[in-house]
Amino acid sequence: MSKTFYITTPIYYPSGKFHIGTAYCEVLTDSIKKYKKLRGFDTFMLTGLDEHGQKIETVAKKNGLSNQEHVDNMAQEAKKLWKLMDIDYDYFIRTTDEKHCKAVEKIVTKFLENGDIYKGVYEDWYCMPCENYFTSTQLIDGKCPDCGREVQKMKEEAYFFNMKKYESWLKDFYNKNPNFIVPESRKNEIFKNFIDPGLEDLCISRSTFDWGIPMPNDKKHVLYVWLDALTNYITALGYMSDDETLFNKYWPADLQIVGKEIIRFHGIYWPIFLHALGLEQPKKIYAHSWIVMKDGKMSKSVGNVIYPETLISRYSLDATKYYLLRFMNYSQDSIFTPEDFVQRYNFDLCNDLSNLLNRTIAMVNKYLNGTIVEYIGSLNEFDKSLEECSSIQIKKFVEKMENIEVSDALKEIWVLISRTNKYIDETQPWILAKDESKKEELASTMYHLVESLRKIAILIYPFMKNTSENMFNQLGIEDESLKCWDSINDYTLLKNITVVKKGIPIFMRLDMDKEVQYIKDNMKC
Ligand code: MSP
Repeated sequence: MSKTFYITTPIYYPSGKFHIGTAYCEVLTDSIKKYKKLRGFDTFMLTGLDEHGQKIETVAKKNGLSNQEHVDNMAQEAKKLWKLMDIDYDYFIRTTDEKHCKAVEKIVTKFLENGDIYKGVYEDWYCMPCENYFTSTQLIDGKCPDCGREVQKMKEEAYFFNMKKYESWLKDFYNKNPNFIVPESRKNEIFKNFIDPGLEDLCISRSTFDWGIPMPNDKKHVLYVWLDALTNYITALGYMSDDETLFNKYWPADLQIVGKEIIRFHGIYWPIFLHALGLEQPKKIYAHSWIVMKDGKMSKSVGNVIYPETLISRYSLDATKYYLLRFMNYSQDSIFTPEDFVQRYNFDLCNDLSNLLNRTIAMVNKYLNGTIVEYIGSLNEFDKSLEECSSIQIKKFVEKMENIEVSDALKEIWVLISRTNKYIDETQPWILAKDESKKEELASTMYHLVESLRKIAILIYPFMKNTSENMFNQLGIEDESLKCWDSINDYTLLKNITVVKKGIPIFMRLDMDKEVQYIKDNMKC
């Protein structure tokens, strides 16, 4: 039986249309899932929506819809977008699902029985018109961050989860599992800001609105909102419902992907909730950084928001995914610019990858009538060095993927692509073709080119499935065993491969000025 791999995205607030920041998080998770699947794991990917809370209620009201109608529409929109982006999730959870709500009620009941929850008084800055609390750090110039009006200190009765009780357990857990959160800098931040100063108990309920799961012991209160949200990762697998088969099979999660601003919830409250339930901890949490614009965060009011549909419809899904995954740093925010997008498209995808495929197909047709017969060894230093490069790059690629350094993993593939391009310049097939005595060398050169492209097509599959399939088609590689990971290190497998008569460019050069303008025009206000 193959090893399981359970990976999750955060569940997104359905408060507005998803931009490329949200899409990045989804694509990152999906590409890691596809990579693991390619490596033979029995994978399960969870994504979904965090549908409760005051913010959702406010947006629904603004749109003239009931809360439920609003979240139903948004769930459809999200599923449509993930379909467009070929996201291979296994389950889409919505926190309004009956299965989830029932399981959360049971979880809260268990916490109440264990004495983890107590009733206290919640006090913070309250905005009357928005009917919402804010912490002092959320206020902007001491005013409401949403409407800019005056706020006042308010108190209300609320339920709290006793985090302090688990503080020493949490510290001990991190001592024993120092790599639980990556990158390390994110772990250091939560230690500095929240764990070292001493844990605060977490307020888990509100009585000022009702769009949430009621507290099972006190229906005046609804859960707000992290206990409801975080437990999605286990309720989705059937925890505390009739059927726990998936839970038993996939929990603990192997990798949970979250954004940097929600690492506090995943690095403190989530482990404590799990521990309080007597459950195992996830193996790793990766906190990614943010896509930002030159003028700061993407924001509708600034008019600098990029939606994934804009890029996909004009430049293709694969180019969009490639860019998002390639340009995002492992641990720092990355600035999206239209210029950089077009440049990477032209350099990496068009010049490096597409041209390599096209030149290879043209030469195999011209010099060998389109057919690669078989491997005849590595005949010269160039063949040897290309073979060596491919095995080194595959190894490096694997190392980077296992460390969740996806951008760097893509760079390693592009090292092989550049090396293969250089191999053409070194071997100069057009000269070999003029010399009858170099026939064998020419055949070997063509073999090495096609074989290198086969390996590249396997490597890019988790990120650029369509391009990978297109490459296999053009190269005439039909046999599934030649497309799978197990075959990647073998150099000798191709036999009687006939490439297409005429290569079709997979990426065509873009006009920089025109396309930069196009992207700018489509930054929505
Ligand atoms: N609902 C909570 C998560 C609950 S998980 C139990 C939430 N939702 S969110 O919609 O506000 O954000 C979801 C994810 O999108 C976060 O991981 C966040 O980091 C990510 N992104 C939102 N904007 C982003 C960028 N500009 N760039 C990259 N990711 C960003 O928080």
